[in-house]
Amino acid sequence: MNIPKIYAKEVQKKPIDLSLSENPLGCSPLVVKMLRKITMKDISRYPDTGKLIQKIAKRFKIGKEEVVLGNGSEQLIKLIAQTFLQANDVALIQRGSFGVFTKECLLAEAKVKFFRPDKATDVGNAKLLFICNPNNPTGEVLDLTVIEKIARKASNSIVVIDEAIGEFTKDTFITKALKTKNCLVLRTFSKAFGLAGIRIGFVVGPENLIDKLGVAQQPFPVSEVACKLALSALEDEVFLNKTINFIKKERSFLISELKKRKLCPSDSITNNIFVETPLADKLIPKLNRLGVSIVPASGFPGMKKPGFRICIKDEKTNRLFISQLDKALSCIRSKNLVTSKKI
Ligand SMILES: Cc1ncc(COP(=O)(O)O)c(C=O)c1O
Repeated sequence: MNIPKIYAKEVQKKPIDLSLSENPLGCSPLVVKMLRKITMKDISRYPDTGKLIQKIAKRFKIGKEEVVLGNGSEQLIKLIAQTFLQANDVALIQRGSFGVFTKECLLAEAKVKFFRPDKATDVGNAKLLFICNPNNPTGEVLDLTVIEKIARKASNSIVVIDEAIGEFTKDTFITKALKTKNCLVLRTFSKAFGLAGIRIGFVVGPENLIDKLGVAQQPFPVSEVACKLALSALEDEVFLNKTINFIKKERSFLISELKKRKLCPSDSITNNIFVETPLADKLIPKLNRLGVSIVPASGFPGMKKPGFRICIKDEKTNRLFISQLDKALSCIRSKNLVTSKKI
């Protein structure tokens, strides 16, 4: 299997950009206020992560020793793969999900196999499993009991549950993961908290696994500025709720518009929607020419459905997308009509 190209770097940026999952409302005003208070000391000294780890531990009612910070959750995915995989180990990865799981397991020289967590009857001899909940690109969630079952079946393996877009649901596997010896949960400040440019995320799990990750992690993976801004983000529940409500409103607008056009949007609860359509091969280049950036299904290793992912943006961008979609569809559908009439 070839190392997949990661869409964040591959997709061309167009004026109507729905390609990357970022917060369309920006970030909390408390974060901006804190940014203005950054001093020379914050920059000239090595970072102290204590306060942030304490705040995370309090938020999720866990111990400080059950958290490791990372330079974005992408860096933690690399750390997990490098720490727990050896050449020729098997890594089981959710089919049609975030490409970095596959990339990092292949870079660790593991053999990658895809699986569907909702249909997993056997986890074989997998050393490491990656589940994305809610899933990127569909924004669909698995019942936590499904993940619990997999964790039990895979008791000799390490199961990673990526909850990068977890703020859009109240469900989290964190408490359950801490009762196991083999489950890790990944979270990030890049999505609902709106700190994608700052690069900070964390992994939570039982001490036996967190200790190993702590040893393997760099001494200073995150900056003092990132820690201070993440702390401020955690203090602003109002902004978080505003984001969740805004995304909910725009998601129902986009889903209903997509359905009116006979496209098949996923049952998302997040800011990502996967649009399934057999027209994808024609529609994506047409939309690109009309100034729209989206991520094709091929950006999600193992994905079998034809289609593309959109990320919910501000109201103006979402409506511009629908109007360009109409132009692209009418062009494709009228051409199809002419061809079928010729036949
Ligand atoms: C499922 C998933 N995990 C991890 C990430 C990476 O997040 P971070 O910005 O924390 O590296 C993303 C970003 O799109 C994601 O969708």
